[in-house]
Amino acid sequence: MPTRFDPAGPLRGSLRPPADKSISHRTALIAAMGEGETTIEGYLDSADTRSTLAAMVACGAEVEGLGSDGVGPEVKIRGVGLRGAKAASIDVGNAGTLLRLLPGWLAGQPQGRWTLDGDDSIRRRPVDRVAEPLALMGAQLNCRDGRLPPLEVDAAPLRGIEYELPVASAQVKSCLLFAGLLAEGPTWVGERLRSRDHTERMLAAAGAHVTWLRGGVEVRPAEGEGVELGEMAVPADFSSAAFFLVGALLVPGSEVVLEEVGVNPTRTGLLRILERMGAEIEVEPLPGARGGEPLATLRVRAAPLRGTDVGGGEIPLAIDELPLVALAACFAEGETTICDAAELRRKESDRVATTCEALTALGATVEPTEDGMVVEGGEGLRGGLIESHGDHRIAMLGAIAGFASREGVTVEGMDAAAVSYPRFEADLASLSGGSRP
Ligand code: S3P
Repeated sequence: MPTRFDPAGPLRGSLRPPADKSISHRTALIAAMGEGETTIEGYLDSADTRSTLAAMVACGAEVEGLGSDGVGPEVKIRGVGLRGAKAASIDVGNAGTLLRLLPGWLAGQPQGRWTLDGDDSIRRRPVDRVAEPLALMGAQLNCRDGRLPPLEVDAAPLRGIEYELPVASAQVKSCLLFAGLLAEGPTWVGERLRSRDHTERMLAAAGAHVTWLRGGVEVRPAEGEGVELGEMAVPADFSSAAFFLVGALLVPGSEVVLEEVGVNPTRTGLLRILERMGAEIEVEPLPGARGGEPLATLRVRAAPLRGTDVGGGEIPLAIDELPLVALAACFAEGETTICDAAELRRKESDRVATTCEALTALGATVEPTEDGMVVEGGEGLRGGLIESHGDHRIAMLGAIAGFASREGVTVEGMDAAAVSYPRFEADLASLSGGSRP
């Protein structure tokens, strides 16, 4: 069923966006690696993060708070211990993060075989980026055509390696750090460009030996006590907040407050980009970091924007928000270029292609390039019809574009939003003074 988003006046009010998806996945995985019970306050209830809880159950962990009607406000996980994962066939659904992180833990188990598979979009997402360095550690893995799921993992003894990431990827880094917990000798992962560091922060909080050195991070095998998270609270997801940040900037008269948002600097590249475009976003830090993660209240008002150039080290810090940068660029004075972002083509959809297709259908002048796009701004958007291609972030981009457009936007495949943000439509409606189920 197509979903319509009409221009409906300013966005105003405050809300707490849903819990962070990246952090939720990691809390479930690290809790399952422990032997005791971990209490996770505010675990994200979404399709992707339910896949992770189900995967942990398949590996033998006990999970409370995962009901048939969703995940409760608090999830309790009793782990199987670092070396206790049970053999299983795992359906990762649409969750690329689960697909890439989990093999690191499984590869170093003392025994067992696992198969990881997922939906059609997952079957197009490369796993060679984790399979190759894991094989250097001694892992026994098989994937389709040497690079695609299903991925088979056979337990094997691992040895630590030094590995410089060819492309900045927090998923690959995290996978290798998990494997490093089980390997003989230290494992060092170097990154020329920094990517999100939730795994390192959380492993350190769980008692693992994590050291930042030589432009990378080193983990040493956890002997004896292993890893125990104990208690975790998940901040609101900056990547979900980003839709309202950009919506409020673009719809005249808007003013939106977003509460308890995770503002880890390896996630908030969008703030720097939008500020360069002319936005003023107030970031009021909140006392007490949760699980090693800083939190803040964000306040944003509508503002005129100018074009900018985005590339290099900024890309991994804003990777999931680049489609929103392109949307903002349609309303900015002058040209915006995004480069060095070839990774964008390997997300839930080819986001260079799907972002350009969507914005073009709405009246933008935007050209895809091999590693990004060029947007001619100044005209705003007329409106029209877009297809989400099953990609949650493209669906939500369409909705925000509808509010900011002159004639409104119809989104085909809005249900994809449930992958990270099931309440998105209701929350957006609450900011525009309307209501949706
Ligand atoms: C994620 C890392 C990013 C991001 C993805 C979530 C994570 O991917 O695009 O949505 O949770 O580690 P890469 O690390 O592959 O760039």
